[in-house]
Amino acid sequence: MRLAQTQNDRKALIAKPSGQACGARVSGVDLAGDLNAELIIEIRNLWLEHKVIAFTDQAMDDEALERFTIAMGGFGEDPFFDPIEGRKNIAAILREADEKTPLFAENWHSDWSFLNAPPAGTCLLAVDIPPHGGDTMFADQVAAFAALPETRKDAMRQLTAIHSAKLAYAPEGTYGNHERETDRSMAIRPDASANETYCHPLIQVHPETGEEAIYSTMGYIIGIEGMAQDEAFALLSELQEWQVRDEFVYRHQWDDNMLIMWDNRSVLHKATGGYKGHRRELHRTTIAAYEPA
Ligand code: SIN
Repeated sequence: MRLAQTQNDRKALIAKPSGQACGARVSGVDLAGDLNAELIIEIRNLWLEHKVIAFTDQAMDDEALERFTIAMGGFGEDPFFDPIEGRKNIAAILREADEKTPLFAENWHSDWSFLNAPPAGTCLLAVDIPPHGGDTMFADQVAAFAALPETRKDAMRQLTAIHSAKLAYAPEGTYGNHERETDRSMAIRPDASANETYCHPLIQVHPETGEEAIYSTMGYIIGIEGMAQDEAFALLSELQEWQVRDEFVYRHQWDDNMLIMWDNRSVLHKATGGYKGHRRELHRTTIAAYEPA
């Protein structure tokens, strides 16, 4: 049991921008300490501004991760994963040193975009970080939209995408039943409910910043309303090339004792390899969809 919590002072927070499209490293706070109302607002403001924030030198356990997630907006819904033992809202992003399965989440995506109310954000806490590789990539979708020609923006504002988890988490999907015979160490649980669909505008207005962002995540979109399938996929593929151009990307390198928090409404992300022969484990929570007070 933690006896005395650090008294955090929001004025001590230091955010150092990554110098890339988005992302900042934040120091001067103990996230396992006292999370007072002013500090919570300050952290959320940094998150909205930089889209991905990485807190260095943290000594957080799973309880502190849960407390932090609740303070940032409460838990999001987390389908298709079993949580880690003893915690209802934490999933392990895990790869054993000798694992042979295809890398998890190596495609650009926004977490659980196929839900009716996708999570506003995601927190990822370093547990076991390999000595090299395993970076997480982010692509700024506000910047990607802003850089489009105005005529293109107008056309895209009219479109509604049909999202579904079926390509990934249905029994016949990428992480489906065929994986039972493999050595996948993550507790992924495919289910027929992955075939459900929800529609979201292709261009979303961020509910907290008012900025427009491209909300297109290829693996979780199965069509565009009123558009032929081949036309929709040609458009989405071409769009994805644009969405992840180098100028919109931030490459996040992990350190021990680090927690990162990103905004699913304004960035795409993906995992990378490069740590063959080493174990990698991170604990993940999602932050619930934002509901204005
Ligand atoms: C994820 O997409 O949740 C995982 C990202 C990573 O493993 O770097």
